[in-house]
Amino acid sequence: MKAVILAGGSGTRLYPVTTIINKHLLPIYNKPMIYYPLSLVMLLRIKDVLFIVNPHDLENFQNLLKDGSHIGMNIKYKVQEKPNGLAEGLILAEDFIKNDSICYVLGDNIFFGHHLPKLMKEALKEIEHKGGAYIFGYYVKDPERFGVVEFDEYRNVISIEEKPKKPKSHYAVVGMYFYDNKAIEIAKNIKPSERGELEITSVNEEYLKRGKLRVKLLGRGFAWFDAGTHDSFLEAGEFVATIENKTGLMIGCIEEIAYKNGWITKEQLLKLANPLKKTEYGRYLIELAENS
Ligand code: G1P
Repeated sequence: MKAVILAGGSGTRLYPVTTIINKHLLPIYNKPMIYYPLSLVMLLRIKDVLFIVNPHDLENFQNLLKDGSHIGMNIKYKVQEKPNGLAEGLILAEDFIKNDSICYVLGDNIFFGHHLPKLMKEALKEIEHKGGAYIFGYYVKDPERFGVVEFDEYRNVISIEEKPKKPKSHYAVVGMYFYDNKAIEIAKNIKPSERGELEITSVNEEYLKRGKLRVKLLGRGFAWFDAGTHDSFLEAGEFVATIENKTGLMIGCIEEIAYKNGWITKEQLLKLANPLKKTEYGRYLIELAENS
């Protein structure tokens, strides 16, 4: 399986904050937003990642994450010329994905939960062995902001709608999708929505039509943020700060995960930590290296 992280889009919902800087590079508490989705992919032990970015943000992303070798990864970039929708990313990623299956993550989604890596690994295994699509639902009070999934009494999925005015349930589809290779062909054949975008929801609807969509619910023990508005941005930052300061453990620390995955040595970790040693972040990495 390969991973694709969507970090393009116009960010208009966060103006004026995002007038000159891409939202995925802004901080959620003490690290750039993009570290959080990247860390998820790393927890799945996927080393090959493609970032879909805007033309004018490419250089910034390259400066931040480079080719990934410093954290034991293989990172590539693909430019999305215009914000034509999330599903276009699947088409743009075709050469990178080749015949593989796909872990598709939205760059502004932040997840937290004890069993998350386990659930994600289950999804990965299921897609690699049985194919289809595997997505997650999360109960929210404002489902009209999201893709919404409706179930019958036996928890079978009946419908998926993108930002419905009258949502048929409270279950939002979160921005982490697992697909077999057919997703690329499906994305090529969907039609733009009323807002003129190729919606990821249309891809999921097609899998549903084919009887190949599995939806797993994330229960109350999980936290999920779509940091796409000023309020959700702030909430996500406050959440990360609260948990980190309480436990002394970091969320979304890519250097830590690389080290614990065995992708970098203690010496490499210290080399990454040294320039950051005036910060909590840097000291955290140094302590990690010295105490293990
Ligand atoms: C996108 C998807 C939506 C999904 C959401 C999750 O919405 O279109 O289906 O529920 O991400 O964050 P967007 O935030 O791009 O409007």
